[in-house]
Amino acid sequence: MNAPFNKHANNAATHPAYLSVWEIEAYYGESYIVQNVSFNIHEGEILALLGRNGAGKTSTLRTIARLDDPALTHGEIWLDHKPLHEMKSHEAAANGISLVPEDRRIIPGLTVEENLQLAQIAPPHGWSLDRIYDLFPRLGERRKQEGVTLSGGEQQMLSIARALARDIKVLLLDEPYEGLAPVIVQEIAKTLGVIRDQGITTIIVEQNAVAALKLADRAVILDIGKVVFDGSAAEVLENEDLRAQYLAI
Ligand SMILES: Nc1ncnc2c1ncn2[C@@H]1O[C@H](COP(=O)(O)OP(=O)(O)O)[C@@H](O)[C@H]1O
Ligand SMILES: [Mg+2]
Repeated sequence: MNAPFNKHANNAATHPAYLSVWEIEAYYGESYIVQNVSFNIHEGEILALLGRNGAGKTSTLRTIARLDDPALTHGEIWLDHKPLHEMKSHEAAANGISLVPEDRRIIPGLTVEENLQLAQIAPPHGWSLDRIYDLFPRLGERRKQEGVTLSGGEQQMLSIARALARDIKVLLLDEPYEGLAPVIVQEIAKTLGVIRDQGITTIIVEQNAVAALKLADRAVILDIGKVVFDGSAAEVLENEDLRAQYLAI
């Protein structure tokens, strides 16, 4: 099977897609949730995946990460010429996909540093602790503190840092700004910009669409499991009708 790169009009032929999601369909039991979704991302891009509550954003991320639910029944997902659609979640992870779920999943009883060390237990290793603390000074200051006692923003940083501690290529962020004060959102956004500059490709799902759009290069909007927009983030920021229709902002 060849990667279906040429099926996407939005990508110039000179820039083949790095991550290609092509006509994916996924079900929770009998419920048809991800309904023929396609989009492409270039290496080092940040893509905002937006849409109302229940649009299918989390389900799309879970499908790309190859979790068992929802079940992928049709379509292909290619990462750097590797067929993710043929993989289980652990194989997708070994190929560089990392999902940071909405609930952050900090491990109780472990310090900040132990949470990070646990992520580095198996090779291939990603960023060193020094490099991580350089990017997240707050985590360095709190390295001996139990992870679950951190503030919401710091827990989100830890959860992103834990992903970087593994050798990842694609970061899938599910509502990283949820419940955080605007100043912390700005701090995390700045960090995500630095992570992009280091070559990591990111999909950010956010209810705070404006914050996500300011950070992102491109945007895909989902509505009831289907793609209704695929274009530049700036275009969505400028288009009030689009935002009112699909994002309720
Ligand atoms: N585990 C599940 N079992 C059945 N239906 C689910 C499950 N999780 C989500 N759904 C349904 O799938 C649809 C998309 O959900 P989701 O992907 O979580 O949306 P979003 O993240 O955009 O808010 C919703 O209608 C939701 O009710
Ligand atoms: Mg969700």
